[in-house]
Amino acid sequence: MFVASTYSKKEVFSSIEPDLVVYHCNELVTMNTKYGAPRIGEEMLELAIINDGAIATKDDRIVFIGTTDEFVSKYEIGKVLTKIDASNKLVTPGFIDPHTHIIFDGTRENELSMKLKGKSYLEILKTGGGILKTVRETRKASLEKLVENGKKILNRMMECGTTTIETKSGYGLNTESEIKQLKAIQILNEAHPIDIIPTFLGAHAIPPEYQNDPNDYVKLIISDMIPKIAEENLAEYCDVFCEEGVFTRKQASKILKTAIRYGLKPQIHIDEIADTNGALLASEIRAIQTGHLLKSNDEGLKAMAKAGVIATLLPGTPFSLMLKDYAPARKMIDLGVPIALATDLNPNCWTESMQIIIALACYNMKLSPAEALTAATINSACALQRQDEVGSLEIGKKADIVVFDVPNHEFLPYHFGVNLALKVIKNGKIVVDNEFLT
Ligand code: NIG
Ligand code: FE
Repeated sequence: MFVASTYSKKEVFSSIEPDLVVYHCNELVTMNTKYGAPRIGEEMLELAIINDGAIATKDDRIVFIGTTDEFVSKYEIGKVLTKIDASNKLVTPGFIDPHTHIIFDGTRENELSMKLKGKSYLEILKTGGGILKTVRETRKASLEKLVENGKKILNRMMECGTTTIETKSGYGLNTESEIKQLKAIQILNEAHPIDIIPTFLGAHAIPPEYQNDPNDYVKLIISDMIPKIAEENLAEYCDVFCEEGVFTRKQASKILKTAIRYGLKPQIHIDEIADTNGALLASEIRAIQTGHLLKSNDEGLKAMAKAGVIATLLPGTPFSLMLKDYAPARKMIDLGVPIALATDLNPNCWTESMQIIIALACYNMKLSPAEALTAATINSACALQRQDEVGSLEIGKKADIVVFDVPNHEFLPYHFGVNLALKVIKNGKIVVDNEFLT
């Protein structure tokens, strides 16, 4: 019998014969540089690249990683069931998208012309558009319709190289419809290869029926929604949209403290449009990750660095809102704030592609390609507390691997606006081949 204490995880997995190998990888980006924690500052540049690399898997696990020469000296390539020649190709861990809103019905393409005429995000929301329009349509949609919509999005994400995501409720805004959204997530997580981490975001907007009594809606979240969702085990995280004219710091803090008592982990949307001192609040409540941070002040950012709160940057949002300011990513890196990247996919900012997000992060937030790739893989895994399983290519971790039709990682933001992922391996199975689902 296997005695855990006698053998290391690495020894156990590396004694297994592989059933799949990707070899002659021009650049095999392993991200194997530091165990268990997000990369900060200059650590974000260390990709631990193996040239002419080989990675082999058995079932859903990585069992070998090294050079092609090392692989050949240990195994016979001809005997491995599935072989992928990655000459001239870039191979990386699957992308992790740690902040999305994929469960909704209805679309909002009509809002683009409003934005072009100068209407702001909060003005559109105040007049019943934006999130509230999506709430009206999502409340009306059946569970089956939400699952169908979500599946389409997940398929596109996978084609673009994403293998793990977080996604949120937040378009129900009443107990029944929030639970319907979370159930859709549960069904998709069981049926789809992408791993999905569910978040309860009942505090996404004040629903129309509570416009005059927002505190009563907070009470409903605290006394009804959170207990039911925790009881049914429908969410791992709880999130709040803390913003001027939406939920106040005080309300956000109350909701998240209740969520923590019920065993949910805290995260929070902060400082997207105005600085409400959200970064400081995020550090005080020890949020695992925070989203947006366009307007966060230095004191708050320093507190986040100290508390190790991850800043999940969402450059698709200022892009789709046509804002000129993005989150101050370079300042965050200098201050030692750990940063991750995500699409924030929602009906206002709709992209499935972490490749586009990497390009936006480089061109508009001045991240280097290496920093952006770190933020989209291992640091995103840390934002979801999944760094022991995914985010880097190491023996014993999940076999979630992407082969890109480019020679090196600098190409990812350089050749932008098209899908560069050629093959996607999820849990050791080829799920995307020549850019299409298998
Ligand atoms: O993170 N800002 C709040 N929530 C989402 C947008 C949701 C929507 O507009 O539908 C976000 O950007
Ligand atoms: Fe969001």
